[in-house]
Amino acid sequence: MTILPIIKHANEILRVTCEPIAAVTDQVRAFMDNMLDTMYDAPGIGLAAPQVGDMRRIVVLDCIRDAEEDEKQPMYFANPEITWVSEELAEYEEGCLSIPGIYENVTRPAECKVSFLNYDGDLAEMHCAGLLATCIQHEVDHLNGVLFIDHISRLKRGIAMKKYKKQQAETM
Ligand code: NI
Repeated sequence: MTILPIIKHANEILRVTCEPIAAVTDQVRAFMDNMLDTMYDAPGIGLAAPQVGDMRRIVVLDCIRDAEEDEKQPMYFANPEITWVSEELAEYEEGCLSIPGIYENVTRPAECKVSFLNYDGDLAEMHCAGLLATCIQHEVDHLNGVLFIDHISRLKRGIAMKKYKKQQAETM
């Protein structure tokens, strides 16, 4: 089990657009396993490669909160692409392992379709709804250098970032 250090806002690495991978190799799978260990350890329900300083388009998720060991449902996405979003919107309170302690309501499409390469390297497509739809959109955003705080009003973001900076200063 390898726990990778998680990069925090406002590190510029989190603003870089990541590159697609050519194939899901054993090396990529080992990295996905490390990402998952890191995510469960944090604990969190999603993690994108740039959050651990890797500029490849790779995401891991497990949207079952507080799952026991036998209920875990890890999901792996390489080169995920949102191919469709619903007109219907949904609001969830989001947080991010790279912006600890900050939680804000974000409105996104309620459902989406995502195409990706799975753990075996096969092309797959998934229809996502509920928390999973929010999670995958949040993580794909990371691959494009976008953070959930970019989706809230400038006023709310200002207040949240003031709180975040204060917290960060206190924990240093
Ligand atoms: Ni995040």
